[in-house]
Amino acid sequence: MADKRGRGAEQGKAGPKTPAGKPSEATSIFGLPLGGLVLGSAGAGAKGKKSGASGPRARLVVVGVGLTDGERSVETLSLLTKAGVDLDGWQRERFLKKRGEVFSLLGREGPVWVLAPVARPNGGHHGLLELSPYTLLRDLAGAVAGPALENAVSELSVSFLRASDDEILGTLVGLELGFYRFRTLRPGIVAGQARPSLVLDGASMPQLAAAQHLASATNLARHLVNLPPADLDPARYAAAAKDLFAGSTTMTVEIWDPKRVEKEGMGLLHGVGKGAAEGPRLVHMRYRPKGKTRSKQPLAFVGKGITFDTGGLDIKDAGSMRLMKKDMGGSASVLGLAYWAEQSELDVDCDFYLALAENAVDRHAFHPGDILRARNGQTVEIDNTDAEGRLVLADAFDVAISQKGKDAPAVLFDLATLTGAMRVGLGTRLAGMFATDDKLADALLRAGQLRGDPMWRMPLWTDYAVGLKSVVADVANSGPGRFGGAITAALFLARFVGQVPWVHIDMYGWAEGPGIGGLGEPGGNGQCVQALARFLETYKDG
Ligand code: BES
Ligand code: MN
Ligand code: ZN
Repeated sequence: MADKRGRGAEQGKAGPKTPAGKPSEATSIFGLPLGGLVLGSAGAGAKGKKSGASGPRARLVVVGVGLTDGERSVETLSLLTKAGVDLDGWQRERFLKKRGEVFSLLGREGPVWVLAPVARPNGGHHGLLELSPYTLLRDLAGAVAGPALENAVSELSVSFLRASDDEILGTLVGLELGFYRFRTLRPGIVAGQARPSLVLDGASMPQLAAAQHLASATNLARHLVNLPPADLDPARYAAAAKDLFAGSTTMTVEIWDPKRVEKEGMGLLHGVGKGAAEGPRLVHMRYRPKGKTRSKQPLAFVGKGITFDTGGLDIKDAGSMRLMKKDMGGSASVLGLAYWAEQSELDVDCDFYLALAENAVDRHAFHPGDILRARNGQTVEIDNTDAEGRLVLADAFDVAISQKGKDAPAVLFDLATLTGAMRVGLGTRLAGMFATDDKLADALLRAGQLRGDPMWRMPLWTDYAVGLKSVVADVANSGPGRFGGAITAALFLARFVGQVPWVHIDMYGWAEGPGIGGLGEPGGNGQCVQALARFLETYKDG
């Protein structure tokens, strides 16, 4: 049986295993318990930690997408009977006749949910808009997590009927996403509150561990976004990243404080962050698993971490500022991904960078008209202090791409809540992806589709770069025109990536409530963690 952190589960991993080192054993971050799935054992009551032992026992039956309607009803009914769930006449009737996706039934000991996903074809677009089996199950399972919490279910027995690996993974991730609650401060509600322990039938320990790592990483990113900006300033954020990996033998964390940022010549990051009570930080998390087999050169990931974006002196109006605690969403997803890599002992070298600053209104704040010098020597005229994300990223890019020798990155990725224009173009749930390499772009789009964490490719159309002309500096951080704003932002960044293949993701990072699946309440959504984790699992260089 796995202990609460699933370490036991990892020992069951199939195939040859290289010693990857010792992962961090941090158990919580900002009140969020990191343990993930709590296992109980059938009949013996909950064996894991607090499971609100007095509540009803519930059952979840998951039916694979591949089954025909007939097979679904007959086989599922017999599975329910075998499990000791007697459905009375009308429930039986209803179940056999009705085609649906979530059946809420009543068993002898408590609620019974049957998930029977129906594929919904979404043609064209090279299949990239198709909901994958993983996604269907994740979102159905996520939708029963809420009712399970509301009914104070103490134990949830999950059985799978001809479900694929991806369907099992989706189900377990969906439950974990659905159990997450941010509301730590409302009376009577605690983060990671009493939630059911799980009894699994038909899922293996490695599958459980994989789900736990993916779900914890995504919830970690969600939680960081949900934290109030006063609780997550650049200093505390950097310190939390350090704590998260304390004790790890594969991840080292280095923090550059404001003095070091300035000394490094990072005039852009420094300029954006100098007006705030806590100055800017650069966090570098270096992941080097022992005995890695798959990559020669590391992959670098950079996240935009504006802990609050007032717009600076070009101040935003109230409506536009309201959600700007989420302007560190890119960095939250990068940290989530780092946590996933480290916990799942990924065998690809990676460097993760968080560019942290608060864009404040203050007498020390940078001004429109200021000319800042980037770490790579370029001068940037500030046209608008609200175009700050591209500035902090540009300086972090230079740190990432100037690593030498064995540490020189093979690919540079960045994740950022960069432009309002991207949200206007693609809405909140599709992230915009810009890439200088078609093979990489295709692999990412496919990974996003498989994990229900979709992106859409956007053009790096260089003609639009004229919008960033400056007469007094090498480039301006924005221009008079607003059209194509996501593209001009990407073209600004392109000036700082050197020769390294580059992928830029302009994301929203927030689920508008009421959300779907496991994202029931409005808040951070950990966008791109699932997609990038999938990409990394299958990445091979060259
Ligand atoms: N953080 C915002 C972008 C943003 C706004 C993302 C709303 C998601 C929702 C960014 O720093 C910003 O303010 N961008 C400006 C750029 C403009 C001043 C060139 C924008 O998009 O309006
Ligand atoms: Mn801004
Ligand atoms: Zn911003």
